[in-house]
Amino acid sequence: MSYNYKELGLVNTREMFKKANENGYAVPAFNFNNLEQALAIIEACAETGSPVILQCSKEVIEYIGATMIPLIAKGAVDYVKASGSEIPVALHLDHGSNFEMAKKCIDLGFSSVMFDGSHYPFAENISKTREIVEYAHLKNVTVEAELGVLAGVEEGKKVEKHEFTRPEEVENFVKQTGVDSLAIAIGTSHGAHKFKPGDDPKLKLEVLAEIERKIPGFPIVLHGSSAVPKQYIEMIKQYGGIIKDAIGISDTELRKATRSAVAKINVSTDGSLAFTGALRKALAEKPEEFDLKKYLGAAKEEMKAYYKTKIINVFGSEGAYKKSTIV
Ligand code: 13P
Repeated sequence: MSYNYKELGLVNTREMFKKANENGYAVPAFNFNNLEQALAIIEACAETGSPVILQCSKEVIEYIGATMIPLIAKGAVDYVKASGSEIPVALHLDHGSNFEMAKKCIDLGFSSVMFDGSHYPFAENISKTREIVEYAHLKNVTVEAELGVLAGVEEGKKVEKHEFTRPEEVENFVKQTGVDSLAIAIGTSHGAHKFKPGDDPKLKLEVLAEIERKIPGFPIVLHGSSAVPKQYIEMIKQYGGIIKDAIGISDTELRKATRSAVAKINVSTDGSLAFTGALRKALAEKPEEFDLKKYLGAAKEEMKAYYKTKIINVFGSEGAYKKSTIV
């Protein structure tokens, strides 16, 4: 099946980002891997009145199936309406790797796509991004691109070293590609093992400020922004899981960034950690349970509570739109 995102009740990210930048908050872009996570995200956002970007990777599209993904997003939109909330919902492709992938998602009903050409030489990143922008804009779908390289692990792929975004490149890149938002590398990192306990990771806020001076008001995106909460690492270990001690991006560092032109922040790993910890706990505490609604429900509620805290304490997007009236 093929949809235009408007038929699904979705919106692109243009207005969301404008309002976020004008009001000093960032739109949460939470990755979903399954129905429980999609429910946790949409309920948390509708109950707090936060705009939301439901995002998924190519691997998740393959896992859930291309037919189901747009309909999960439509279900999310319908849920928002039924709950009395008025939050806007976008469906976004995370880390698209080529034109075919982006086109496929646009034709499926995605309202926003990312093309990650950060590992290509500058000129090639520009030409490949521009090709996607030209197709996407025919359908009023917004496009995110990336300059600079984040370290870390994502969907099993490892990048060893950060390459911070060069502020002198951003203006030219944005002009030549016609892109709608730009992901930058300022010290965030993908995955659960970003930094070791005892590290004090700081964002390169001076690089962000320099980028803002070059492209004032242009929406900036931060990837790799999970906090890797200690309570979930402990919970996973306590209930039989194996995971290395690690820390992520602190809430205080991230909150500083939300007050700038940063309009979208990606959080994926924290949801997986909350889910895994709560699921292990629920199964261990009631080994006789086989009603999957019970233990998956516990995992969903843990993710939802985490997303709400993050929206209120870090994104600053609580109450930007009408909240749901059926909490
Ligand atoms: P985390 O691994 O920090 O959650 O980052 C996710 C991300 O940036 C997805 O694009």
